[in-house]
Amino acid sequence: MRLRADRPLDLAPATVLDYRELARRRLPRQLFDYIDGGAYEEVTLRANVADLERVLLRQVVMRDVSSRDPAVEVLGQRLALPVILAPVGLGGMFARRAEVQAARAAEKAGVPFIESTVSICSIEEVARATATPPWFQLYVMRDRGYAEELMSRAKAVGSPVLVLTIDLAVVGARHRDTRNAVVGDPSPWAKVLRGLDLASHPHWIRDVPLAGKPLTFGNLERAVPDAGTPAAFREWVDAQFDPSVTWDDIAWVRENWDGRLVVKGVLDPEDARRAVDVGIDAVLVSNHGGRQLDSVPSTARALPDVVDAVGDQVEVLADGGVRTGLDVVKMLALGASAVLIGRAWAWAVAARGEAGVRHVLEVMKADIDVALGLTGHTSFADLDRSTLYQADSPIPRP
Ligand SMILES: Cc1cc2nc3c(=O)[nH]c(=O)nc-3n(C[C@H](O)[C@H](O)[C@H](O)COP(=O)(O)O)c2cc1C
Repeated sequence: MRLRADRPLDLAPATVLDYRELARRRLPRQLFDYIDGGAYEEVTLRANVADLERVLLRQVVMRDVSSRDPAVEVLGQRLALPVILAPVGLGGMFARRAEVQAARAAEKAGVPFIESTVSICSIEEVARATATPPWFQLYVMRDRGYAEELMSRAKAVGSPVLVLTIDLAVVGARHRDTRNAVVGDPSPWAKVLRGLDLASHPHWIRDVPLAGKPLTFGNLERAVPDAGTPAAFREWVDAQFDPSVTWDDIAWVRENWDGRLVVKGVLDPEDARRAVDVGIDAVLVSNHGGRQLDSVPSTARALPDVVDAVGDQVEVLADGGVRTGLDVVKMLALGASAVLIGRAWAWAVAARGEAGVRHVLEVMKADIDVALGLTGHTSFADLDRSTLYQADSPIPRP
């Protein structure tokens, strides 16, 4: 294995960022950047991580913390730890049937896997591979008939939770995709170089295009007959994402879905109140991992105000920038019931498949265990903002 001075790996991956480095070595540049990148100048992408780093834990010693339990109850389900695998589009391009591999790892760790609308493996394929049905993520599409059909498919495999993503009414620009010639109108020469980028990654070619077929969008086989590529995904997004969507449309989804309903992509307390008014079960504080509107606040920053607005009525989940179990504990101290991880599982599955995702979840669990113990807790039951140093203002305001 080639070692690099900028991120030494030594002999074995120990952290999520080690998996990021392994994924960088293994994936074609265009795919690594698709996972790693964010919108515009990536201000929010960086802030998600930086603001979580600035949240400090309050160490409290000499308590009896001999039996610690990281389990939580979320949306009527017991999670072995407060971590959920976020919906990540095009997963099956990172590793062979990656959604199945990740869902199996999640099941073994006792946490939910959320199947993205734009997955390579269909929801039926994922459900067949696991005993616990995945949660399902849906976009509000122009073609409401198709949305209804997807809800029926999720219901048919027993998905208990629908996660409705509402922060893609218009699509933010991701400059890395343009530079890598996967969107826009690349020159013929840029297309040749893009092909060479793929061709020069033999491990990936063996694992994904050869062993991982078919590379189509498993949930959208009627809507997007083209192979699963960022360009095909972008085309579908441009055609289907509906900028006229309002809270009335969420009410329509509510009427058509009798399981638990989560709205994903809320940053503003007023929006959170509107969501509660239409009868959702949980709000997910998310800026799409810094992939949509840049220069919006990090989720660590936005979360406490949303919790203060609606936390006594519905559950509040959060995602963005979570790379360690300590980040998980910080998000829960800020008021989340559980967090989603996106890039963490995407890098791990790209690097080492199911075993990589399992390892990342084990590492997070071990981090959480230590953080609970050294903040004087034996469970998440009594964890709140008082678990943070500078409890009133964990993140300095500008
Ligand atoms: C490569 C990639 C693809 C994503 N695809 C989707 C998607 O299909 N649907 C969705 O609701 N969110 C999608 N997201 C956003 C994630 O669900 C999640 O909000 C975000 O990754 C959390 O930030 P993190 O990556 O820092 O953990 C995607 C994120 C990434 C990194």
